[in-house]
Amino acid sequence: MKVIHELSDRNIEDLHALYRAEWWIRGRSLEDTRRGVAGSQICIGVVDDASHLQGFARILTDFTFKALILDVIVAPNQRGTGLGNKIMSLVESHPELQRAKHFELYCLPEMVPFYEKHGFGTDVGDIRLMRRSKAENTVKI
Ligand SMILES: CC(C)(COP(=O)(O)OP(=O)(O)OC[C@H]1O[C@@H](n2cnc3c(N)ncnc32)[C@H](O)[C@@H]1OP(=O)(O)O)[C@@H](O)C(=O)NCCC(=O)NCCS
Repeated sequence: MKVIHELSDRNIEDLHALYRAEWWIRGRSLEDTRRGVAGSQICIGVVDDASHLQGFARILTDFTFKALILDVIVAPNQRGTGLGNKIMSLVESHPELQRAKHFELYCLPEMVPFYEKHGFGTDVGDIRLMRRSKAENTVKI
């Protein structure tokens, strides 16, 4: 396995295939996937010996205050082997994120234990997540 920070066209196709298997991002088109990757300040991918993407996360950040971690995903046949932990460790230790004061993410309740292992907590005081969605939007998260 090798860590990459730039995704090839084929890696983006792999990522799109991974997304399609997950209900919360199933509706994304290949073009949306490409735009999401291009619009992220940091991408972390893990590829196998054949250069196929096996794990991924992307980060939106100002490099100072916030680093929002999105789309953490591991190929189904690689889950439970430590790759998710490795990706989270790569995010936390990324040299360009060392000055960010908050790492943040959102997830379903069942994923809380996974992220707690990496120091994340649900206690954000009185802060509320607020959202305005476009009427035609089918993206769940
Ligand atoms: C979540 C995900 C990235 C974890 O990747 P993984 O490679 O299976 O994780 P690891 O093998 O590194 O396991 C990490 C730890 O989290 C735990 N864990 C893994 N998946 C979990 C889950 N769904 N719920 C709770 N804990 C989980 C493991 O038991 C392991 O615990 P340990 O460190 O004490 O042994 C992977 O299951 C995945 O891609 N899921 C679908 C996409 C998704 O839901 N992403 C999260 C978006 S918020």
